[in-house]
Amino acid sequence: MHDDLAEVLLTEAQIQHRLDELAATIQRDYAGRELTLIGILTGSVIFMADLLRRLALPVRLDCVGVASYHGATASTGEVTWTKFLRLDVRDREVLVVDDILDTGLTLLRVREAIQKLQPRSLKFAAFLEKDVPHRDGCRADYVAFKIPDKFVVGYGLDYRERYRNLPYVGVLKPQVAGV
Ligand code: IMP
Ligand code: MG
Repeated sequence: MHDDLAEVLLTEAQIQHRLDELAATIQRDYAGRELTLIGILTGSVIFMADLLRRLALPVRLDCVGVASYHGATASTGEVTWTKFLRLDVRDREVLVVDDILDTGLTLLRVREAIQKLQPRSLKFAAFLEKDVPHRDGCRADYVAFKIPDKFVVGYGLDYRERYRNLPYVGVLKPQVAGV
């Protein structure tokens, strides 16, 4: 375990095993159809890479970039787009992939924006779902793991851009997280 962590919440083996199950479910749900996966940068890249390689379906891949500002400093409920779609999604089966469902603001804004482009279907997959109340109407169709309300890093998730490369998910020591 990395020195900055207080505990490991999900081991690499647990994650890889769960992804086998999740990918099997998604593959069954979309059998015989082409899927357009849209990753939300940056946190989803590891989950996306591991998920997509388990899908024996025709798959198209794109990413969007979204920065959300909430918490004490700026709680406007708005997000800033740093990258929009490159692929067309009209009349496509779209699955949006994110690292973690927390307040739900990101999901809400990305869903609104993509819905306007008239996909045939639009679903949402989150690697983690935090045990906190989400905004109204925010739920993910696919969730790999539900976790307690702790700040976690690893497997794509960062604290100040660090720890994304850890192959497992852990909780930072309070003194490292500055809380
Ligand atoms: P939401 O818009 O509040 O659902 O937040 C989603 C985004 O907040 C995620 O995509 C992450 O980038 C970030 N986030 C929320 N909780 C955590 C955490 O525990 N660790 C790292 N990033 C987090
Ligand atoms: Mg993120």
